[in-house]
Amino acid sequence: MAAIIEVENLRKSYGSAVAVDGISFTVQAGECFGLLGPNGAGKTTTIRMLYGFTPRESGRLRLFGTDCDGAWRSIKAKIGVCQQEDNLDPDLSVRQNLETFAAYFNIPSNLVNDRVMSLLQFTALEGREHANVMELSGGLKRRLVLARALLNEPQLLILDEPTSGLDPQSRHQLWSRLDDLKQRGLTTLLTTHYMDEAQRLCDRLIIMDQGKILIEGAPLDLIQEHVGKSVIEVIAPCSELRQVLKEKGVAYEDVGQRLIIYSNDGESLYRDLLGEHCREGCMLRPATLEDVFLRLTGRELRE
Ligand SMILES: Nc1ncnc2c1ncn2[C@@H]1O[C@H](COP(=O)(O)OP(=O)(O)O)[C@@H](O)[C@H]1O
Ligand SMILES: [Mg+2]
Repeated sequence: MAAIIEVENLRKSYGSAVAVDGISFTVQAGECFGLLGPNGAGKTTTIRMLYGFTPRESGRLRLFGTDCDGAWRSIKAKIGVCQQEDNLDPDLSVRQNLETFAAYFNIPSNLVNDRVMSLLQFTALEGREHANVMELSGGLKRRLVLARALLNEPQLLILDEPTSGLDPQSRHQLWSRLDDLKQRGLTTLLTTHYMDEAQRLCDRLIIMDQGKILIEGAPLDLIQEHVGKSVIEVIAPCSELRQVLKEKGVAYEDVGQRLIIYSNDGESLYRDLLGEHCREGCMLRPATLEDVFLRLTGRELRE
């Protein structure tokens, strides 16, 4: 079966600033693929080029096995998009927002009612169908945006920061909906700043920075490859600890009042350190995707 997304050397500049700098990746059918990176990395620009919203400057793009140039109309009919900003119509009710969109996609009127009802149910918005969009909380709005993106029964769902600013309940609710959609075989492309979310949802992901791809792979493989099994955090490390780690050939990072130590043999190192070198606080924990992200993209603020 053809890949759902094939991107080759995709590029976009704004004036002299390069937002997306020649990136390539492929997403297979049924995969959940993550696009991660600090603010300004080029995630949204990439996504917008993928659904034909922003024209690409150069590079090749095939979706569903078809070259996009000249075929956007049929391709867009198979994509559902949740943009980074909620672009719901504030003057309309929940149901009217869905109906207006259904008309935009030329969904036959005899199907609209059933689809709207089943999506309201799927996103737990039944009972809110006559509410005005202005009255909805952030979590409810995101659910409505998801329902709207699914109206045309897409084969590819694109989500740009779907859970930013949501409370934990709303995030978990959305994850569970995304699990359901994955079970049905839907291919998903997702950007997020939440590393736990990416680790939980994505089969594979890329981390990009300044328009370029830094790494690509399955979350657990990337953790093993770029950090190792575990991390030891030492608060207020004693002065000789750095020297000890250097002699042992153990990788570490100095972060203010803390040492972050990366190790594949964390338990025995932890025991060694506890006895001699850690007085105030020393914590052993499994390495996470967040460690990979910070190690690769640094700890400096971006915007
Ligand atoms: N319409 C635009 N005009 C000018 N610069 C833009 C525009 N959209 C994005 N950029 C710039 O392109 C870069 C990438 O932005 P974006 O794709 O939004 O990043 P991300 O989604 O990863 O935060 C940033 O430096 C941003 O300022
Ligand atoms: Mg963005």
